[in-house]
Amino acid sequence: MSDTQSLAEIAVADLTESQARAELARLADVLAQANTAYHGQDAPDLSDADYDALKQRNTAIEARFPGLKRADSPSDQVGAAPAQGFGKITHKIAMLSLGNAFADAEVAEFDAGVRKFLGHDAPLSYTAEPKIDGLSLSLRYENGALVSAATRGDGAVGEDVTANARTVADIPQTLTGAPDIIEVRGEVYMSHDDFAALNDRQAATGGKTFANPRNAAAGSLRQLDPAITRARPLRFFAYAWGDLSAPLSDTQKGAIDRLASLGFVTNPLTTLCDGPDAMIAHYRQIEEQRATLGYDIDGVVYKVNDLDLQRRLGFRSTTPRWAIAHKFPAELAWTTLEAIDIQVGRTGALSPVARLKPVTVGGVVVSNATLHNEDYIAGRGNKGEEIRGGKDIRIGDWVQVYRAGDVIPKVADVDLSKRPADAEPYEFPHICPDCGSEAIREEGDAVRRCTGGLICPAQAVEKLKHFVSRGAFDIEGLGAKQVEQFYTDGWVREPADIFTLRDRFGSGMQQLKNREGWGDKSAANLFDAIDERRKIPLHRLIFGLGIRHVGEQVSKLLATHFGTWDAFETALTQAEIGQGAAWDDLMNIDGVGAVLAQSVITTLQQKAERASIDRLVAQLEVQAAARPTSDSPVAGKTVVFTGSLEKMTRAEAEARAESLGAKVAGSVSAKTDLLVAGPGAGSKAKKAADLGIETLDEDGWLTLIGDA
Ligand code: IVH
Repeated sequence: MSDTQSLAEIAVADLTESQARAELARLADVLAQANTAYHGQDAPDLSDADYDALKQRNTAIEARFPGLKRADSPSDQVGAAPAQGFGKITHKIAMLSLGNAFADAEVAEFDAGVRKFLGHDAPLSYTAEPKIDGLSLSLRYENGALVSAATRGDGAVGEDVTANARTVADIPQTLTGAPDIIEVRGEVYMSHDDFAALNDRQAATGGKTFANPRNAAAGSLRQLDPAITRARPLRFFAYAWGDLSAPLSDTQKGAIDRLASLGFVTNPLTTLCDGPDAMIAHYRQIEEQRATLGYDIDGVVYKVNDLDLQRRLGFRSTTPRWAIAHKFPAELAWTTLEAIDIQVGRTGALSPVARLKPVTVGGVVVSNATLHNEDYIAGRGNKGEEIRGGKDIRIGDWVQVYRAGDVIPKVADVDLSKRPADAEPYEFPHICPDCGSEAIREEGDAVRRCTGGLICPAQAVEKLKHFVSRGAFDIEGLGAKQVEQFYTDGWVREPADIFTLRDRFGSGMQQLKNREGWGDKSAANLFDAIDERRKIPLHRLIFGLGIRHVGEQVSKLLATHFGTWDAFETALTQAEIGQGAAWDDLMNIDGVGAVLAQSVITTLQQKAERASIDRLVAQLEVQAAARPTSDSPVAGKTVVFTGSLEKMTRAEAEARAESLGAKVAGSVSAKTDLLVAGPGAGSKAKKAADLGIETLDEDGWLTLIGDA
């Protein structure tokens, strides 16, 4: 069956399995194109009724062949999130996320950690409030008027949804008696009643329905047409703030009360607690009320009440040290494991995915779940220890699935009493299912990896998807879907090909335009978007290379350390693993360890990989990493602390130095700019003296940074 036209005409009941697979692929494609068109690229190319008919056909095929449901199934894509069409807003102060605690003991550990960091023995007071399951929004008011509203986005840059925010009744348009500049942050959500009514209306009018209130809220806020948002009943709880021209209060609770007096809705279950026992007690109370609150919450957030202590505690890379989310336990359900598929990731990792008979877990239909790795399936943990009492997992088994918040559902347990008599132990493949190369497990690695490298199509495609993803090159109009298509067509095999795409098509662009879903405008937009990314900041390039262990944060560290692509590339080409100056230099970067360093060196020194990187860089203008812009006297300097400190703990001192743009190192070397030595300083002070490095005591340091 090669003719898709006739495939589309076969009734669902008559499809063979392979026809069904092909048809699901086609529907995923057509519906994704329709979503893109609908959200701004071009005029919608499908009527609502046609769209719904295709979606229904997709659902019906999935119901008949649950094992064939795709990872990118259109039935999971509710309230599509347009990445384009909205202007961007750079947050003056980053919008961060929260660390998580699950067990009561972790709450006590959080409190102990906070007090240890501060060197504070007495009990501390915390606010405790529900964690709303919606999406966060930052509202900026200047001289009492709402001037902009931005979603969180990647934390640094969000989407401009000002026009939509203006339609939300809980969001004041003007403020009286507020600081001249105030950014109020909180959660946009939809109540259970409003959600049910919206879905009823949508179903009655043939519109899209939403899987849960959170998706409905997100889909409604991120509408290009504010009239649609206005018709959707969104609400807003204020719980935090960003930029401020004057402080709101000196406590968290006081600040929340101030926001309430300015006209914001704050959560009535916000309470002050004098330590972990009271926090956990409040958590239990909120948990009991959860079902009757009328809106979704997924835990309780604790925040240090004293804002001066919050300031001293500061932030880790993506989460504050002064707050934590105590999540509710994961939701569970039992179902049949119908198949185990192996997915190959960008670093060649073979990941087993459970295909499940669809089951509702906490309000969401789950048909795929992770099985982690081969040991997990066999009943062994990371250190070879028994898990699940040593029970293995087999196809046909009755398995327990759980999901916590947004994370990928997991298969947690298996009921042996329901195991079919003919179920066989699962044999994990030793051959890559995608390219047929050997898949091996290195010593100490929990993961089996395909050795095919660049010749493995699955790895190549995953690498490309990573390359165009948000923290990397983030090319508008070139998402996972398009990359897959271009790869299959042979147009884009490696990142460099993206930048020569226009040349390959020539000025006519006829080939691209002939493709379903591409028109004159979208093709021209794509090439423009690609050109826009030829100029790329160093850290995005490093992240985009998809090197194992190198995430966004590490990419930033490497970029700031080396400054330019040339310096980075030269150092890594020369580096020897485990020895030499280049290796030592890498290891001296706070946050870079041996495993990571080795991974970067190996990648840059691997011949084929390197040639591919060089072809890419030849197409780019890589922007040097900005030196710390802070005008503090220690910005860009390398500082070492030694001896004991009296006014703050070592952890606090180091965090403060980093927040001022200094690099904190553990040992004194020729690269050290400054040694801060307290009483009891030993060999480091001597070495600094020998090297002629400036040395200050604690008071001298505090004076230097203006904290005295
Ligand atoms: S405080 C610096 N309080 O949870 C951290 N966040 O998992 C500021 N959220 O991105 C966030 N309810 O979208 C805070 N009462 C609450 C919250 C809350 C929901 C969301 C928020 C945040 C996410 C982190």
